[in-house]
Amino acid sequence: MPLSLIVHGGAWDIPEELVEAHDSGCRAALLEGWSTLQADGHALDAVEVAIRKMEDNPALNAGTGSVLNSEGKAQLDASLMEGESLKAGAVAAVETVRNPISLARMVLQSENVLLVAEGAVQFARAAGMDECRNEDLVVEREVRLWKAWRREHESDGQGASGLAAGDTVGAVAVDGRGNVAAGDSTGGRPFKHPGRVGDSPLIGCGVYADNSVGGAACTGWGESITRVVLAKTALDLLGEGKPVKEAAELAVQSLIDRVDGRGGVIMIDATGNVGYAFNTAALACAYLREDMSEPVASVVRLGNRTLRTS
Ligand code: GLY
Repeated sequence: MPLSLIVHGGAWDIPEELVEAHDSGCRAALLEGWSTLQADGHALDAVEVAIRKMEDNPALNAGTGSVLNSEGKAQLDASLMEGESLKAGAVAAVETVRNPISLARMVLQSENVLLVAEGAVQFARAAGMDECRNEDLVVEREVRLWKAWRREHESDGQGASGLAAGDTVGAVAVDGRGNVAAGDSTGGRPFKHPGRVGDSPLIGCGVYADNSVGGAACTGWGESITRVVLAKTALDLLGEGKPVKEAAELAVQSLIDRVDGRGGVIMIDATGNVGYAFNTAALACAYLREDMSEPVASVVRLGNRTLRTS
């Protein structure tokens, strides 16, 4: 089976000053995952290492450098799924783990699917994973943004509502044995209510993988993505015989049509073809297939794409 890997660094209005960091961050993650695939690694390993690389990149909203919630804390979500046995693992609202994708991997290998908050951290501790302080995940850029938001919202005590940016990092891979895996990791929405969980750790919403069809990982406004079960919706379209690019576009179209949502999806079909679609201002992504001479990595602007908005 030809190797194939696609990663994303979030779908939102990526400002010019962060374009280079998103571009190079996606490229570096892609190359890390690609080395794993080339060394005969499992698709799960490739997705995990690619996402770890992005979690460790302070420019991206996952792991270190995540956005802060309304209490000024990083609260992280991640998930990972593999398409042979349909095993999945996810964690949500964890505050003291540097690489939640690796914790999700440990959950996948257990009898659990989703662990949250302190229970997830207890699980990490028991598995011997190092803990960090929440402050270790926090970068100056996000503290400045949080302080500005706090000044504006001192009186209402509310978390940010619907239209705040909600980017994520994610990856989908097919390995040489035809195994498909998909994963996501995120700090969620900026200034979110404590305990708020978006699509990223919800199997079928943020990610899905099935060796007989392909894999999908989503990014964007988590509440709307969850309502249309976007990752599984995209894979169901593939299962109906749609080409991967069309499946991605139809899935994102359903996000607009059904819930006026904003986001994107990256996908690979079971034979390694890559596709993506989004309806935010921009999507950071990178991909490589065995039949390509070099990777494609870019921040793609929506420009004059033809997706309808309701
Ligand atoms: N898509 C990430 C989130 O909404 O939490």
